[in-house]
Amino acid sequence: MAEADPHNTNVMLDGLINRNSTPPRLMVGGTPPPRADVERMLAAACSAPDHGAVRPWRFHIIEGEARNKLGDLFGKALLERDPFAPSAAIEKEQGRPLRAPMIIAVCAKVDPSRAPKVPVIEQVVAAAAAMEHLVLAAQAMGYGAIVLTGRNAHDPLVRAAFDLADEDELVGFVYLGSTDEPPLAKDRPDPAEFTSDWT
Ligand SMILES: Cc1cc2nc3c(=O)[nH]c(=O)nc-3n(C[C@H](O)[C@H](O)[C@H](O)COP(=O)(O)O)c2cc1C
Repeated sequence: MAEADPHNTNVMLDGLINRNSTPPRLMVGGTPPPRADVERMLAAACSAPDHGAVRPWRFHIIEGEARNKLGDLFGKALLERDPFAPSAAIEKEQGRPLRAPMIIAVCAKVDPSRAPKVPVIEQVVAAAAAMEHLVLAAQAMGYGAIVLTGRNAHDPLVRAAFDLADEDELVGFVYLGSTDEPPLAKDRPDPAEFTSDWT
């Protein structure tokens, strides 16, 4: 590669290769990212590849008191799945959203009428790509971020609260917060194990 790096390619590549999720327990301060920063993250999300420009992504910002409402919803969802769930398990569900100052739920609102040219799976993939752009942007801005789903993302009660129809998906909950922990070096898989020349 040439010496000059006018597009900061090396910085970007290093950021991608060394990217790490931040578990909520490493998020500090309790203050959500300012809206101006969130808008930059969402701008990055909206540059994701998107077959047919369907724009299937939906971003729901959850902060402050809304996190308690989401926790109540998670608790109710568990009780629906398991009416005999112990109170400790319900409390754990209720507390999940309180682990980070902000959560962005990323949904795929798909348009089945665009298939077969743009199959529904491709629309879900576009929303997932947007979610990863959001995570990468947050991390590039120095925030900690992690995608979490668990049973909640696929639970009928939770899906209904995010206005999802049958073919829509709740792609993930992005937990966001400040962190003062440097990203931990992680062993990553050897790309060669997943790569072949197709002939
Ligand atoms: C769609 C999606 C859902 C995920 N859901 C969970 C989850 O519910 N719980 C969890 O521990 N990790 C979940 N992960 C994985 C974490 O986001 C993260 O990738 C993992 O902790 C490994 O950290 P790393 O990203 O630094 O490799 C999910 C990842 C994706 C893409």
